[in-house]
Amino acid sequence: MRVLIVGNGGREHALLWRLAADSPESEFFITRGNPGTAALAQNVDVGPTDVDGVVRAAGEIGTGLVVVGPEVPLAGGLADRLIAAGRDVFGPVAGAAKIESSKVFSKRLMRDAGVPTAAFEVFTDLDPALAHIENGPEQCVVKADGLAAGKGAIVCRGKQEARDAVRTILAERVFGAAGAAVVIEEMMKGEELSVLALVDGKNVVPLVPSQDHKAVGEGDTGPNTGGMGCYAPVAIATGLLMGVVMHRILQPVVAELARRGTPYRGCLYAGLMICEDGPKVVEFNCRFGDPETQVVLPLLDGNLLELMKASAVGSLAGVEVGAKDGAAVCVVMASGGYPGSYGKGKEIGFGSALDSREDIIVFHAGTAAKDEATVTSGGRVLGVTGLDENVAAAAARAYEGVDLISFENSYYRRDIAWREIERVKNK
Ligand code: AMP
Ligand code: GLY
Repeated sequence: MRVLIVGNGGREHALLWRLAADSPESEFFITRGNPGTAALAQNVDVGPTDVDGVVRAAGEIGTGLVVVGPEVPLAGGLADRLIAAGRDVFGPVAGAAKIESSKVFSKRLMRDAGVPTAAFEVFTDLDPALAHIENGPEQCVVKADGLAAGKGAIVCRGKQEARDAVRTILAERVFGAAGAAVVIEEMMKGEELSVLALVDGKNVVPLVPSQDHKAVGEGDTGPNTGGMGCYAPVAIATGLLMGVVMHRILQPVVAELARRGTPYRGCLYAGLMICEDGPKVVEFNCRFGDPETQVVLPLLDGNLLELMKASAVGSLAGVEVGAKDGAAVCVVMASGGYPGSYGKGKEIGFGSALDSREDIIVFHAGTAAKDEATVTSGGRVLGVTGLDENVAAAAARAYEGVDLISFENSYYRRDIAWREIERVKNK
C-alpha cells in the first residue's frame, strides 16, 4: 500500500517509524519530512497545511491511506476533501475536528452528551466577561475559542490575571480570529492523563494512557509548551478508571458526533483531569498527541497500518489493542528560549553509541539537513524515547540517549516522569 503522512514533526516521525516497522511491504511518503524521516519515506514537496496540495499529491501517488498528523489541515477540511476524492484517510472531517478547533463547540458537545468537564460560560463581549469574573471564584481558566498552537488556555490564579486574559484575547485579539469568543471555566484540581483512542465513526479502541509534561520548567513550573516529555504506562490509569473514561467520556462523545451527522474517525485524544470525584475532560484533540505518540506507539501491541485503515473504513468493531510489557519515557530536547524566541541552525551531534541501542529511539521534530549535517530548525528539536521494564528504568535509558546528543544552547527537563517515579518509591 502507498501511504502519505501529512505533517513533519516528532509525532509524524513516530507514526512513520511504527508504520514502516509494521508494514515493511508498504511505500511511505511524507510532506516535507525532516532528516529523521528521510530514511523511511520519500519527501513530497507540499506543505502539511496546504489542503489543495495534499489532495493533489495523494491523487498523484495513488495512496491507499493518508495519515494526517496535525490539527490545522483537519480543521481546514483535508479529510472531507480526500474522502470526496475517493481516498481513505486517517483523521476526522472538519465537522468532527471542531472538537479541537473550537472550545465552544467542544464544551457544548460535552454538555449535550453528559460528559463530565469543568463548568463554563461563553463570552464574545468584554464587559459581560469581566462581570462574570468579578462575580466568580478567585481562580479560573480563560480559553480562546479557536486554535492557538497550545497557547490559548490561560490558567488564572487571581481575578487580575483573568481580567488581563480576557482583554488580551477579546480586545487585543492576540490570537486573531481564534479569540472572537472566550470560554471561562471552573479551575479543576487533580493529576492530568492523556488517553488516545482509535475511532472508526462508532467504535472506540483506547491505547495505553500516558502523561505529558506541558510546563517548560522542572517540577511542572513556568509557561506551557507543546509538551516537554511524556511517559507510559501511568499507574493511576487503572482498569476501573479506564472503564469510566470509556463509558462516560469517549463513547458518549463519539455517539453524539455520529448522531449529529459528523461521525468521528481517526485518533481522538482526551486530555483528562483525574479529580476527587472522577475523571473530567480538560480538552479534546482531533489527532495523536505530541510527544504522547513517541511513548504510546513503541508500546502498541498490534499492526498500526491495519488499525488506521480499519479506523478509516469503519471496521474497528471487536478490535482490542493491547500494550507491550514495560514502559516508555520520552524526553524532549528543545532550543534554549523555547517556548519564547530561540536560535536555529545549530549543528546537532549524535553519539555513535546510539546506533547500537535498541532501547533508545531518537525522534526528530525541529531538525533540518544542512550540507552533510543535521541542524536545529524549531523549538522542540528531538524526542528521545527510552524503553525498559519500568518507568524509572525507561527514564534512565532516555537520559542516557540525551547525554549522547549535543547542540549549542540545548534545553531539556531532567525530571520527566517524576510523578510516577515518586509513586513507585512511596509504595
Ligand atoms: P488546554 O489547551 O485546554 O489543554 O489547556 C492547557 C492546560 O491548561 C491543560 O493541560 C491544563 O494543565 C490546564 N487547564 C486547562 N483547563 C483547565 C481547567 N479547567 N482546570 C485546571 N487546569 C486547566
Ligand atoms: N502533548 C499535547 C498535545 O499534543 O496537544
